[in-house]
Amino acid sequence: MYVCVCRAVTENEVHDCISSGARSAKQVRDTTGAGGDCASCVRKICAMLKRSEDLITTA
Ligand code: FES
Repeated sequence: MYVCVCRAVTENEVHDCISSGARSAKQVRDTTGAGGDCASCVRKICAMLKRSEDLITTA
């Protein structure tokens, strides 16, 4: 499923990006391009970042 429709970036791509070290929406954008257009996906990306942080801090 696409997280970013404008740049055709999938959820998996964003997950990969987060697991290879991205910690902010800007880093995800720099790596995948997601959020570089209309930016309506940035909230989704932030939610994914937050979820992964929660997983790290509760592990
Ligand atoms: S949906 Fe991601 S920039 Fe528009």
